[in-house]
Amino acid sequence: MTRPVAAIILAAGKGTRMKSDLHKVLHPIAGQSMLLHLLDAAGTLSPERTVVVTGAGREQVEAAVAPLGVSTALQAEQLGTGHAVAQAEDALAGFDGDVLILYGDVPLVRAETMRAMLERLNAADAPAVVVLGFRPADPGAYGRLIVAEGGDRLEKIVEYKDASDAERAVTLCNTGLMAARSADLFALLGRLGNDNAAGEYYLTDVVEMSGSAAVIEADAGEVTGVNSRGELAAVETLWQQARRARAMAEGATLIAPETVWFAHDTVIGRDVTIEPNVVFGPGVTVADGVTIHGFCHLEGATIGPKAEVGPYARLRPGAVLEDGAKIGNFVEMKKAVLGRGAKANHLTYLGDAEVGAGANIGAGTITCNYDGYLKYRTVIGEGAFVGSNSALVAPVTIGAGAIVAAGSVLTADVEADALALVRPTRVTKPGWAARFREIMRAKKSAAKTGE
Ligand code: UD1
Ligand code: MG
Repeated sequence: MTRPVAAIILAAGKGTRMKSDLHKVLHPIAGQSMLLHLLDAAGTLSPERTVVVTGAGREQVEAAVAPLGVSTALQAEQLGTGHAVAQAEDALAGFDGDVLILYGDVPLVRAETMRAMLERLNAADAPAVVVLGFRPADPGAYGRLIVAEGGDRLEKIVEYKDASDAERAVTLCNTGLMAARSADLFALLGRLGNDNAAGEYYLTDVVEMSGSAAVIEADAGEVTGVNSRGELAAVETLWQQARRARAMAEGATLIAPETVWFAHDTVIGRDVTIEPNVVFGPGVTVADGVTIHGFCHLEGATIGPKAEVGPYARLRPGAVLEDGAKIGNFVEMKKAVLGRGAKANHLTYLGDAEVGAGANIGAGTITCNYDGYLKYRTVIGEGAFVGSNSALVAPVTIGAGAIVAAGSVLTADVEADALALVRPTRVTKPGWAARFREIMRAKKSAAKTGE
């Protein structure tokens, strides 16, 4: 039987080193805030309650979590991590189960790791507290985990400021993440003091007080914290590396993986080829067998099976390519559907448009969808052919199988299978150019002689 779970996420810190008007935990990794990354991972454990502890900049954090049914608890003064967790007690009133303590600025912790902490908590020897440890390349000022000899039992956590030289030599460090049963946790927190080098209520003190703590170890990358823009970029890199590896493991070819940037919610099928320098904004789904050529930017787009994109294409929100559709270089799409097998191969803008199956959109076609005030739709029927350099002034409908002659400025509908040719009438004057040159040359030399 699995016990109920609650998550407490600490986010009361000021985040001064970010030098930002945006709260630290709301800075994005792969287009989604750090806080939402954590909430997503914790969410897979189906927590009965989730509480975010807020302090400085609380309004921003409250606004971010309000739509998610996550509660917040205010820590009015930052008196330490133990004090911060204690602020969640009211929000957890009546909850009886296991509590996970997470840090809002440690965003990459995986659900598997959270689950492992809870499993350790509920193992036969039933420790009162489980601490997530790690071995950083540079242990720096992290709290040190003092482990009893032979085993995973933890005696205490010593904060760097309070540690002896021998304790500072320990390489196993505290990530800060912890799991404990709710009743134990709040009883222990009630007994915390602040008689230490920082004068803070240390969460870490519950380990020694409990007399029964265990440690499990995480990979250092997974528990990297973010305190500065540099660390934000480092965590972004770690996230991207993991995502690229997953895309390849799931059957996508990334020719230069380090140049492909995914969003938190990118969905990639099998046998997809992604050439170098492709950037995914949020909301992109790529079906099986798609090729995305180099230098494309995609956001909010749905790409159907075996479709082809780019190079140098831009898909904006609402762009849909159906099976085998193709867009080429310098083509932009927004709220536009390109039907099965339809093509727009060069230099085109398709906005608020619907293009039927098998239609061919010539180079330089522009859907003129905006008059400065409102947007209008362009509908192009199946198998229609739009000649190069045509301006389709919406609202306008081109019937199935119709042909629009190159260079047309189309302001009225075209019926199915018709030809629409909207061009100034051609005037040809035989020999005119040769005569023109002769006259001009004569004029020029007369002018020179007169100088
Ligand atoms: C804490 C741990 C340390 C660990 C380190 C990992 C304690 C006493 N120390 O130290 O063992 O190695 O994290 O990074 O727990 N916070 C609040 N309210 C507060 C204080 C902190 O919400 O009053 C939040 C911060 O926003 C942050 C997290 O708790 O997300 C950690 O706070 P921080 O001040 O960075 O703790 P450290 O001193 O680094
Ligand atoms: Mg810290």
